[in-house]
Amino acid sequence: MKLIFLGPPGAGKGTLAEKVVGILNAPQISTGVIFRNAIETGCSLGLKVKAIIDAGKLVDDETTIELVKRRLAEEDARENYILDGFPRTVIQADALAEFSLVDKVVNFDIPDSLVLERMSGRRVCRGCGHNYHNLFYKPKVEGICDHCGGEVYSRGDDKIETIQRRVEIYRTQTVPLIDYYRNKGILVDVDARPAMDQVVENFKKALKL
Ligand code: AP5
Repeated sequence: MKLIFLGPPGAGKGTLAEKVVGILNAPQISTGVIFRNAIETGCSLGLKVKAIIDAGKLVDDETTIELVKRRLAEEDARENYILDGFPRTVIQADALAEFSLVDKVVNFDIPDSLVLERMSGRRVCRGCGHNYHNLFYKPKVEGICDHCGGEVYSRGDDKIETIQRRVEIYRTQTVPLIDYYRNKGILVDVDARPAMDQVVENFKKALKL
């Protein structure tokens, strides 16, 4: 199944994707993770996008579309994928429709208050990208990833002023995609408010898995 995970920053898209990749036998393709990895390695893409991401702005459509187009051409994404964080603009959605046919778009339904709580407490592993939260999902040893032993850190774009900008950009640039995909008849809403195990159940029910 070819899926898009659509929702505000901090809604739990990446965390849910990690939980269901096995069920769906689909790679998680997160543009945010790809950009953060590029920043970590210091490659030309990383140098290009670092300041944009730290400021909470969107990377330009052309760069992002090209990146996803190349990734979806890889063998493991032929039949199934979870697109986490792409598309984020109508231009990106129109471009995607030209190179891949999506089955369903999962819309993460969550109020702003929870989004702020989740983002401000988020911690991420620098090694494998696994998500933690300083209240809800702590690593067993403070600051050390349970999975790979990497450093668990707070993302540069999870500062309060940047979070607010990202939420505003989501409202103006990405929310129009909800109607865009609803009008195509492929949008499913998932209640993303409860604890993650329940969100997994809500997801399975919504997709009749
Ligand atoms: P990206 O990494 O995609 O950020 P985002 O969409 O802002 O999403 P997040 O990763 O912040 O949130 P999430 O929904 O995955 O939540 P998570 O699972 O981590 O993008 C970063 C930047 O890259 C963008 O700002 C932009 O600059 C650039 N970019 C990326 N894609 C782009 C594109 N297409 N076009 C242009 N630019 C692009 O969960 C959040 C926290 O909550 C975690 O701590 C988690 O442990 C916790 N949590 C999750 N679920 C629950 C739950 N059910 N209960 C309690 N806690 C929970």
